[in-house]
Amino acid sequence: VGAVSYETALAALRDRLSARAIEHSVRVAETACALATTYGADAEAARLAGLLHDWDRELGDEQLLAAADAAGIELTETDRAVPYLLHARTGARSVGEALPELEPEVLRAIESHTVGAGEMSDLDKVVYVADMIAPGRDFPGVEEVRELAGSGTLHALYLRCYQLTLHHLVQRQRPLHPRTVAAWNALVGGDAR
Ligand SMILES: [Fe+2]
Ligand SMILES: [Fe+2]
Repeated sequence: VGAVSYETALAALRDRLSARAIEHSVRVAETACALATTYGADAEAARLAGLLHDWDRELGDEQLLAAADAAGIELTETDRAVPYLLHARTGARSVGEALPELEPEVLRAIESHTVGAGEMSDLDKVVYVADMIAPGRDFPGVEEVRELAGSGTLHALYLRCYQLTLHHLVQRQRPLHPRTVAAWNALVGGDAR
């Protein structure tokens, strides 16, 4: 159990995000908490990370690039082309400054949502999946993944979510962040080939 309470985190979020984004954050928090309970991860950490995962989601492109610069995040070509991809990494740093009592595991889960990472803890996977399947989310395959939650392993669930994300990006001719490629290769063992 972290030193930051859910109520404290929610109050901080209200000063930062729109009502709509907060509704999404609360739904992700609840979904992450339920998934953590199902899969034996830290439910309280999952609820906090779910609540705070989109801390930087409403920053503009210029603000995201400036925040990344200030945080010393190395920018790839994809980050410059799609600054939105930075919101998880800048958000983890900035929420860590705003709420210094947050546990590193929570910050790490916030950092690895959206783009993922080569190494994902159970908590990271729970938050990643929760962000995709929380109520209000709609994409081809979402019902299938919701059904898999609880019946399949956490790894299978995360893998399916990641696969659908990649599929979506390729379908839409969106660029793939190098971290996305690294995360996928780590998932399917492609880095060993
Ligand atoms: Fe996000
Ligand atoms: Fe989100």
